[in-house]
Amino acid sequence: MSDEIKKGLLGIVVDETEVSKVMPEINSLTYRGYAAQDLCAKCKFEEVAYLILNGELPTKKQLKKFEKEERKERKLSKTLLDDIKKFPKKSHPMDAARTAVSIMGLEDKETKDNSPKANMRKVMRIFAKTPVALAAFYRARKGKKIISPKKNLSFSENFFHMCFGKVPNKEIVKAFDVSLILYAEHSFNVSTFTARTITSSLSDIHGAITGAIASLKGPLHGGANEEVMHMMNKIKKPENALKWINKALDNKDVIMGFGHRVYKSGDSRVPTMREYFGKVAKIKKDKKFEKIYDIVEKVMIDRKNIHPNVDYPTGPTYHLMGFDTDFFTPIFVISRITGWSAHIIEQHAANKLIRPLASYRGNKHRKVLQLNQR
Ligand SMILES: CC(C)(COP(=O)(O)OP(=O)(O)OC[C@H]1O[C@@H](n2cnc3c(N)ncnc32)[C@H](O)[C@@H]1OP(=O)(O)O)[C@@H](O)C(=O)NCCC(=O)NCCS
Repeated sequence: MSDEIKKGLLGIVVDETEVSKVMPEINSLTYRGYAAQDLCAKCKFEEVAYLILNGELPTKKQLKKFEKEERKERKLSKTLLDDIKKFPKKSHPMDAARTAVSIMGLEDKETKDNSPKANMRKVMRIFAKTPVALAAFYRARKGKKIISPKKNLSFSENFFHMCFGKVPNKEIVKAFDVSLILYAEHSFNVSTFTARTITSSLSDIHGAITGAIASLKGPLHGGANEEVMHMMNKIKKPENALKWINKALDNKDVIMGFGHRVYKSGDSRVPTMREYFGKVAKIKKDKKFEKIYDIVEKVMIDRKNIHPNVDYPTGPTYHLMGFDTDFFTPIFVISRITGWSAHIIEQHAANKLIRPLASYRGNKHRKVLQLNQR
C-alpha cells in the first residue's frame, strides 16, 4: 500500500469547529459568526473573550458578571508569586508563561475534573492569572517591585498597570484591546491543534494550555511578532529598508511577519491592526517603523506576492507601546487563552483520540544481537 503523505497536514480537514471560521477566499475571519473587524469596532476585549468562550455576545448583565469573576481571580498564590521571583531572569517570558500555567495546574483543586462546568471555572482562573504572572515576571526580571492587579481596571488597562505602573491614554488601550481581539482565535493553527491533541487523550486544560504556549513560542507561529521587531531593529532606519529587504530576498531568507498557511492573498486581520499601528505611531510621534513597514511590505508583494500576516503590524505596535520585544508573544498568549480554551472544551465535548499514522522508512526488520556479539 502506498501512503499519501500530507506534510504539515497541508489541506487536511481533521475535525469540525463552531468557534471560528477562516475564509481566505473572501479575506474574512469570523468568531462565532461575527467578523473580527466588526468586533474590534464595537466591542472591548472582555466581550469578545465572553463570546469565544460562551458562543454568544454578552448582555450588559452577563458582561458585568464575567468581568467581576475575571477581576476576582486575578490574585496569584504566594507560592506562584515566589516561584516567579525565582525564575531565571534571562529565561524567555514564553517559558515563564508556560511554567506559570503549569504551576497553576499543580495548585488548582479541579485540575483533574474535565466536566464542562469545572473547565469553565479553570479557564477563568487561567485567563485572569496568566497576565498577572507575566507582568510579575516582567518586573521581577528587571529587579523592580511587583505591582498587584487592580479590580477597578479592565483586562487591558490592568496589564499596562502591572507592567508599567500606569495606564496609558484611551487610544493606546484601545489599540492594545484590538490586538488582543485579533489574536484571540484562529481555528486549527499549530498551538490550537496542539491543545486539542493533548485534550484528545482526555488530559486536562492546564496541560493543554501549557503545551499550546510551547507551540506558540516558535518563530513560524506566534514568535514571529518578536522576529519582526528584530528585523526592524536590524534595518534601523527607513533609508536602509529597500536595500535590506532586497538583499534578504536575494539570499532567499524567510521574512518574518509575512506569509500564511491559509491566507495566500492577505491576512484578514492586517488592515485593522495596520490602522491601529498608525494611530499608536501618531500618538507616540514616531513614524520611523511605519515607514520601514511600508517599504518592506511593498517589496514583499512586488517581488514575491507574499502578504503580511497579523504579526507584522503587532510587533512594532507593541514596541511603540513600550513593551520589551520578548514580551510580544506572551501578549499573544494572554489573548489566545480564550481561543485555546474554547477549542479544548469543544474537543472534550466530542472527543476522538487524535492519532495519525506514519509511513515507516527506517531499517528493515533485523535481529537483536547480544551485547557481546555487537
Ligand atoms: C507562515 C509560514 C510558515 C507558512 O508556511 P507554508 O504554508 O508552509 O508555506 P511555505 O513555507 O511552503 O511557503 C511557500 C513558498 O513561499 C515562500 N515564503 C513563504 N513565506 C515566506 C516568507 N515569510 N518570506 C520569504 N518567503 C516566504 C517559501 O519560501 C516558499 O517558497 P518556495 O515554494 O520557493 O520554496 C511561512 O509563510 C513563514 O515561514 N512565514 C514567516 C513566519 C511567520 O511570519 N509566521 C507567522 C504566521 S501567522
